[in-house]
Amino acid sequence: MKLSLLGAVSTYVLTGLILAVLATAAIGQDAPKDNDKPDAVPAYMATATYKKSTMCKMCHKAQGTGWATTKHASFNKELPWDAPGAAKPAPEEVYRHVTGYNADGTYSEKGITCEACHGPGSAHIGAPMATKKNFIVNPADLKTAGQKISICGRCHGQYTIGDQKIAVKFQQGQDLLKTDGFKLDKVEPGKPMQEMNELVTSKHFKHGVVCINCHTSHSATATEHSLQKPIIELCQGCHKDKVMATHAPKAPADATCATCHMPKGVHTFRKPGEGDDKD
Ligand code: HEC
Ligand code: HEC
Ligand code: HEC
Ligand code: HEC
Ligand code: HEC
Ligand code: HEC
Repeated sequence: MKLSLLGAVSTYVLTGLILAVLATAAIGQDAPKDNDKPDAVPAYMATATYKKSTMCKMCHKAQGTGWATTKHASFNKELPWDAPGAAKPAPEEVYRHVTGYNADGTYSEKGITCEACHGPGSAHIGAPMATKKNFIVNPADLKTAGQKISICGRCHGQYTIGDQKIAVKFQQGQDLLKTDGFKLDKVEPGKPMQEMNELVTSKHFKHGVVCINCHTSHSATATEHSLQKPIIELCQGCHKDKVMATHAPKAPADATCATCHMPKGVHTFRKPGEGDDKD
């Protein structure tokens, strides 16, 4: 009892010390730019392994705190099938709720944690401070819309790759849509976990607007649907000329842009009446 308390205290102090050193080391040091913004899966991925979010949160406290408010983080505590007597989940269900999923159904960690979006973290954690940036994926820095949408769409999409319904070998930076044997399933509009299927049909996707242009992953404050801003403000960030009073004068007072352009939450972003929302 006494011993473990002591252990905890010294770990805490040590962590503080390490963080202080890291903070100093990080200031004023720019990582070389040669290997960032990869057009494909970066080479280090071939051998990188999954660590755990506790490691990431030691150095990235703010992201840890923001992430903890999200639905993604909630599965780190409890999986939908954790309840006693619950049915055994299908592989597709396990795949969508864990981080570092392996072909045999095992995984690194419960929930959609840091490495689910940033990729396996061993190389980043092991790298010297000055080059850390080259050994982790920042989704915002990926070059193509296909690479970016794949980070989220491997879970928020319905597809097949050969006879599989999941992308077991997915690596962050990979463009799923260009993967051999990849096919989007035909789906019913508005069903959950298929936002990728809907978005790829939109003008948004053609112009490079993807999930992370509208949603946050670890913002300091929790927001509805993990959106970057309230809906009207979010849309007007790009559609400056669309003012409710003139563009939609007859809309009910509580209407937002989504009322007409995202019926049932559909992510096709059509003009009303232009199909696909309904069939
Ligand atoms: C020992 C401290 C440390 C740990 C542990 C750590 N990081 Fe980092 N991370 C850093 C530093 C320092 C930077 C900034 C590097 C720079 O700007 O050159 C960074 C940068 C990043 C970036 C931004 C990269 C970019 O290109 O903008 C991401 C994303 C990231 N880390 C994710 C993670 C994840 C995920 C984990 C856990 C697997 C993790 N980090 C663990 C220290 C750490
Ligand atoms: C659902 C996907 C997702 C998860 C989960 C996630 N991130 Fe991120 N992270 C992103 C995206 C996307 C960006 C790019 C900036 C943005 O859009 O917020 C980012 C950016 C970062 C950065 C660069 C600095 C910044 O804030 O922009 C760091 C560091 C980072 N994440 C660390 C973490 C850590 C640590 C965790 C786990 C506690 C984590 N991320 C979980 C998607 C994710
Ligand atoms: C490993 C799988 C996985 C990845 C990767 C993933 N998600 Fe999720 N996400 C989920 C699951 C599962 C849920 C919960 C769905 C539910 O309960 O209906 C969810 C929920 C959400 C929600 C609803 C949040 C809320 O508060 O209601 C949003 C928005 C979201 N994800 C966006 C994203 C974005 C954007 C990315 C990429 C940056 C991403 N997700 C990456 C699996 C994933
Ligand atoms: C142009 C902005 C935009 C883009 C791009 C976008 N979303 Fe959304 N998303 C929204 C808005 C707005 C809502 C809320 C809709 C509503 O109120 O019905 C939403 C809702 C959601 C929800 C349901 C949240 C909940 O609480 O049930 C999920 C999950 C989601 N988005 C995931 C994604 C994923 C994954 C992508 C990329 C494939 C994506 N979104 C791209 C704006 C966007
Ligand atoms: C990051 C910038 C960005 C954001 C945020 C954004 N849009 Fe767009 N939107 C575009 C671009 C670019 C186009 C395509 C060019 C055009 O038609 O102006 C577009 C096109 C559209 C179209 C026309 C589609 C068509 O088939 O003609 C609609 C409708 C639309 N957006 C609705 C929304 C709504 C609703 C939101 C908020 C939930 C939103 N947009 C948020 C950039 C954005
Ligand atoms: C009451 C329903 C309604 C609401 C609310 C609404 N729209 Fe529209 N929107 C329409 C209709 C109908 C069209 C097609 C006719 C037209 O172009 O005006 C349209 C067209 C558009 C277009 C594509 C045409 C163009 O001029 O580029 C964009 C972009 C768009 N809306 C954005 C928005 C944004 C942003 C909001 C929120 C501020 C919003 N809409 C709110 C009904 C609505």
